[in-house]
Amino acid sequence: MSDLKAKILTAVRDDLEAIEIALADNLNPHFDLVSQVAGHILFAGGKRLRPLLMVLCARLCGHSGNHTARFATIFEYLHAATLLHDDLVDDADMRRGRPVAHLVWDNPTAVLTGDFLLARGLSTAADTGLCEVIHVIAGITENMSQGEIRQMARKGDLSLSEAEYLEVIRCKTAVLFEGACRTGALIAAAKTERVEALTAYGYHLGLAFQMADDLLDYTQDLTVLGKRAGADLREGKLTLPLIYALSQAPAADRDQMAALIEKPDFSDAEFAALVELLHHHGGIAYTQAQAARHVAAAKSAIEGFAGHAARETLMDIADYALVRKA
Ligand code: IPE
Ligand code: IPE
Ligand code: MG
Ligand code: MG
Repeated sequence: MSDLKAKILTAVRDDLEAIEIALADNLNPHFDLVSQVAGHILFAGGKRLRPLLMVLCARLCGHSGNHTARFATIFEYLHAATLLHDDLVDDADMRRGRPVAHLVWDNPTAVLTGDFLLARGLSTAADTGLCEVIHVIAGITENMSQGEIRQMARKGDLSLSEAEYLEVIRCKTAVLFEGACRTGALIAAAKTERVEALTAYGYHLGLAFQMADDLLDYTQDLTVLGKRAGADLREGKLTLPLIYALSQAPAADRDQMAALIEKPDFSDAEFAALVELLHHHGGIAYTQAQAARHVAAAKSAIEGFAGHAARETLMDIADYALVRKA
């Protein structure tokens, strides 16, 4: 494990424990099958990054209430719900090191359990008694579904621009990070300036996190990642490494890349050749640089908070987004 990951885990050990307990306690399904399917995705070793962000942001704003971990479950339930739906949409086979729920059970069961988790997130948001939090959560679900639909509609389209890619990842990933951080500040009744600073932190971190995920899809393997690499290409999903490389490559290389995008059953050797082209035409380096730019923006958004252990952990999490291996 990297030193940075070990440092973060030491700093948040108690929070992670409280979140884990709250995730099980707050789930409250009335039906055994819902409990099984939700448990299959929820208790399979996710990083718990989004609930952790909410807890750390609340603490940074001076909050020490009893319900923090329970409110934080909102963001893992929403995340797990969208993963259930995303894996079906993406035709994925592995998630968090396990076969995806729609293959263990079936599509309707996975979709409906995702809906249950979304609803559980919303009713937990209502328990905060804060209209603005409910607004944030509803906004997240609207944005995430639209981001996924937009992405699906443009599958295989080589003309997808960097600006359109950014809009997709803002909707499908950054709004959830942003909402978790914003909610932490809101339940702490923080001043507007602080709410906005933490919202900006979450937004930039979310963009960087998705760019890093899109890089890992080209550079990491299943045993480390817990999901299959090369999935984006197999689905015809154009992400920044490919978008940038396509924009830089001469016609012959561009045609070679285009042919692979249209061929979902590419071989390992063909995939390796594509990754080589992504490196060669700067797609990997450019994406790393853009992710680094958003990490820097996330860190600078919280610079104004006085020296506090939670601020340091948020800074470390931002750095970790770039170097993570899974
Ligand atoms: C995966 O998120 C989906 C993305 C937004 C890239 P994580 O990498 O946080 O997945 P878990 O929660 O650790 O499984
Ligand atoms: C992020 O996109 C998924 C959601 C925000 C639901 P991906 O499709 O890249 O996520 P993974 O790679 O399947 O985790
Ligand atoms: Mg996916
Ligand atoms: Mg991915």
